[in-house]
Amino acid sequence: MATPGVLCFRDITALAPMVRVGTLPMRLLALDYGADIVYCEELIDIKMVTCERVVNEELDTVDFVAPDERVMFRTCERERDRVVFQMGTADPDRALAVALLVEKDVAAIDVNMGCPKEYSTKGGMGAALLSDPDKIEAILTKLVQGLSKPVTCKIRILPSMEDTVRLVQRIERTGVAAIAVHGRTREERPKHPLHCDFLKAVSGAVGVPVIANGGSLDMVKSFEDVAAFRSATGAAAVMLARAAMWNPSVFRRQGLLPVQTVMEDYLKYAVRYDNHAFNTKYCLCQMLRDKVESEMGKLVKTAQTLSDICAAYGMQAYYEEVQVLLRSRRGLHPPETPV
Ligand code: FNR
Repeated sequence: MATPGVLCFRDITALAPMVRVGTLPMRLLALDYGADIVYCEELIDIKMVTCERVVNEELDTVDFVAPDERVMFRTCERERDRVVFQMGTADPDRALAVALLVEKDVAAIDVNMGCPKEYSTKGGMGAALLSDPDKIEAILTKLVQGLSKPVTCKIRILPSMEDTVRLVQRIERTGVAAIAVHGRTREERPKHPLHCDFLKAVSGAVGVPVIANGGSLDMVKSFEDVAAFRSATGAAAVMLARAAMWNPSVFRRQGLLPVQTVMEDYLKYAVRYDNHAFNTKYCLCQMLRDKVESEMGKLVKTAQTLSDICAAYGMQAYYEEVQVLLRSRRGLHPPETPV
């Protein structure tokens, strides 16, 4: 980070956007362990545009709450200069409306242009945008011109290297602050080898920082692999998804922490920020990986509440302590009594 408050995309590691995984507890944990930038899970513009911004004094967070009272996006002061809000969109005007709603609470706005899943592509979002560069240009130009925060996007590579380079150069001309590139095509799955040569070609073809992505499993298992991944791709920065989902201490310069410690750290944030129990379970199960069928895994999977999950980890005392703290805050801000 060069200047406080101004996001720098060079020489950094980023927590990748991940649906269900990239909620507040995971983002704060990744920051604690050393990530410089954290992306939230992809949030769809149509849902976000209906949300209301609510200051949650009890939790000390800012919540974006849907009409059905679901908290779509929860953030806090600690990550304000580091969190990138990623949205799924195929509509420049709606994208800008959502970006303006969240702009002052986040460090940058990102558009997902790589998701190959049908729920994204059938609405013209995600990887569908890769075959509509005019739409890409329209969305990014609208955002860059309408916002005071940096705008970025995350793409996948195209089947041809020349077309990928041309696309990235066109994106650069919209004025984005960085481009994250997952080095696989929209048809390729994580098991397919990563195209480091494509990442190197795009990194060399533009002046804007390219953030290399796709190296989990094969290339990056712990922080000491990050530098090699960066030099293999020639990129300005590195973004990690699965490696961080399995063990977010991958961002730790001193090396990985035992997963048990990481899960406990994660659960503390989940309790502190009242993260949804099912979302918390999902993330813990990703960290348990092949131990998800163990006794511990079964306890986590059958838990229904954060209190149950804490019991599985022997952290009931912590759970109670936080409830006392939150109750006392509620006392400080009593609900208005109807006249
Ligand atoms: C993802 N990915 C993803 N990408 C994105 O742009 N927005 C998203 O919301 C998601 N969601 C998501 C959820 C989960 C559980 C996974 C594993 C992945 C893709 C991700 O950001 C990344 O591009 C790929 O996983 C490749 O990077 P790694 O895993 O090799 O570091």
